[in-house]
Amino acid sequence: MIAEIAQSNKIVVEKSTVPVRAAESIMHILHANQRPGIRYDILSNPEFLAEGTAIEDLVHADRVLIGGEETPEGHKAVEKLSWIYEHWIPKKNILTTNTWSSELSKLAANAFLAQRISSINSLSAVCEATGADVSEVARAVGLDSRIGAKFLQASVGFGGSCFQKDILNLVYICEGLNLPEVAAYWQQVIDMNEYQKSRFSQKIIESLFNTVSDKRISIFGFAFKKNTGDTRETPAITVCKTLLEEGAKLDIYDPKVEPEQIIDDLTHPCVTESPESVKKAVQIHSDPYSAVRGTHAIVLCTEWDEFVTLDYKRIYQSMMKPAYIFDGRKILDHERLQQIGFHVQTIGKRYQRTGLNRSWGSVPQL
Ligand code: UGA
Repeated sequence: MIAEIAQSNKIVVEKSTVPVRAAESIMHILHANQRPGIRYDILSNPEFLAEGTAIEDLVHADRVLIGGEETPEGHKAVEKLSWIYEHWIPKKNILTTNTWSSELSKLAANAFLAQRISSINSLSAVCEATGADVSEVARAVGLDSRIGAKFLQASVGFGGSCFQKDILNLVYICEGLNLPEVAAYWQQVIDMNEYQKSRFSQKIIESLFNTVSDKRISIFGFAFKKNTGDTRETPAITVCKTLLEEGAKLDIYDPKVEPEQIIDDLTHPCVTESPESVKKAVQIHSDPYSAVRGTHAIVLCTEWDEFVTLDYKRIYQSMMKPAYIFDGRKILDHERLQQIGFHVQTIGKRYQRTGLNRSWGSVPQL
């Protein structure tokens, strides 16, 4: 489209997350459709914004990355784009590289972030098996300034449209470059995430006396993280899928995700072969208190702030007994919930029911 309408030389800036070598493909397409005398410079300027904090990330970006051709014209194009950013980003935080480095750095940044989550999530399994507390471990590890505290929040698993896609991209590139060991290394970050999602789902079923058939379960949060209505790759889909396959009835509440989106996600052919039975088993609510009425358990999948301040006494009273809470984001006050009467399970910390003696290493069944 650019080639069709361009009347003069153009700098084309590629910002989206795309397979590596995107700039090269753009260049081929432009050149194939080029009008005589028009010159194109392609720059890679990857996006590091996160959903829910996009404006903040744009205004206070840690860094801006611009990759271009290593030619005099390429350098000029890089300078022009850099000039735009210099209006609000300090020049020392604007990195200029060749196109390949820029494109690979985008994949690498997401791969590193996801790797941290998979690392802490892998340790959450060790914590549950031994009695260590993953929050304490994350704090102790994160206070080492060489490691840092961010992205060490153990969870039901990471979601979103980018981490998985970018790592799979990296794996694909490594395979294409005949680097199978490197491909396997990064693939493990995804595998660990899948393991975490299914481990959490299995824990729910085991805790509910190994069957959820015909039990009603409330799902708190469906988005892949708070402050967004985005459900792409959300761990809630895996959790709901597993519970539905085991015959549970789900009462779902999310403050932002549209009901149609939730139904679309859960009736997708990748999730179920019988969309009609899923529709019968799922009810979407516009209020958390109606979502818990008469249910056996609450499964918290998204860390929405409002879940912290709900009236859990009121919630407990309206639920079936024994009432369970599975906190997949570690945001609730577990001690207080236990005082109210809930059986609490979370990620990376083992809760024993008082008065129940178990031998070291046995699986707790609250
Ligand atoms: C991510 C990156 O953070 C951005 O820098 C990048 O620009 C973006 O992908 C992209 O490539 O477009 P985003 O997917 O919006 O941003 O959200 P994150 O805040 O990174 O969270 C991703 C997932 O990891 C969420 O499911 C979140 O709940 C989970 N997470 C995050 C954890 O489970 N633990 C943590 O400690 C942090």
